[in-house]
Amino acid sequence: MEQQLKQLEQEALAKIADAADLKALNDVRVAYLGKKGPITDLLKGMGKLSAEERPKMGALVNTVRENVTAELEKKVAVLEEAAILAQLENESIDVTLPGAKVRAGNRHLLTRVIEEIEDLFLGMGYEIVEGPEVEKDYYNFEAMNLPKGHPARDMQDSFYISEETLLRTHTSPVQARTMEAKKGEPIRVICPGKVFRRDTDDATHSHQFMQIEGLVIGENIRMSDLKGTLDALAKKMFGAEREIRLRPSFFPFTEPSVEVDVSCHKCSGKGCNVCKQTGWIEILGAGMVHPNVLEMAGYDSTKLSGFAFGIGAERIAMLKYGVDDIRHFYTNDTRFLSQFHQAEV
Ligand code: DAH
Repeated sequence: MEQQLKQLEQEALAKIADAADLKALNDVRVAYLGKKGPITDLLKGMGKLSAEERPKMGALVNTVRENVTAELEKKVAVLEEAAILAQLENESIDVTLPGAKVRAGNRHLLTRVIEEIEDLFLGMGYEIVEGPEVEKDYYNFEAMNLPKGHPARDMQDSFYISEETLLRTHTSPVQARTMEAKKGEPIRVICPGKVFRRDTDDATHSHQFMQIEGLVIGENIRMSDLKGTLDALAKKMFGAEREIRLRPSFFPFTEPSVEVDVSCHKCSGKGCNVCKQTGWIEILGAGMVHPNVLEMAGYDSTKLSGFAFGIGAERIAMLKYGVDDIRHFYTNDTRFLSQFHQAEV
């Protein structure tokens, strides 16, 4: 029996030494020290031994158990440490590997054009105000001197939401709202924002686009003030050598009304494909605020006068950056957008 025990001990120690992982080690523990293991079996057979042999054998069995247990524990510690080291090794980061490229975003070209225009006007003492995109028929049309049934309403095909509400077709309603809010006080504002028209999208039409409305009201505001202001705008956006010219036009909310052309920045007026050989490019509509518009908003048109203008932001951006299709602004193709990286503009 002593012999058997010694042999079991050797076997167990050898298997412990061989065990490659914690699971294998546990299998050894169960096989040798478990209830069904050979050492337990030997203990069960102790009853058959003589009285003087029994304590000797008992002590021997205990020593073997202790030796095996101690060896197991040592090996557990070794394997656990190895497992931690392996995990650390696996999770280590090679700081010398090239990193994944982070693609930085850009502000949208339109946003930047609008901000550039805002900057110019802020510098001239204007405030920036905004109005709602879902607008009342009253502000969009009536307060702009376009009563119900006025034929000029057809110039701006509208998305109506109800009889009295629509998606604003221009930023001009912000003129009326600002005048109401300022209650007869002088005004100098620009109003950027989205506008909507029931147009079929093509290279030059979009059912949604951006306008920047301008409104100045005060004593003795004259057409020459309008011209000087728009001249500054043209020079800021298209270069210091640009000139503007005003052509008579019609808008119900201004009298007189003008369309404003800028001398072509591509050919400097000689004639090219951008200006359709005319040397001039139309950039916006403007005029002196119609007395009806002033009166409807509570301004005394005999004491105060004003000018207004409406800029199409996409049109300015298209001309300035040679964009040939308005839809590029809205389809979010990064091949288009990334061409106008901040640093280049
Ligand atoms: N609201 C006009 C449009 O969308 C543009 C415009 C023209 C605005 C003349 C004005 C203006 O303020 O005076 O077509």
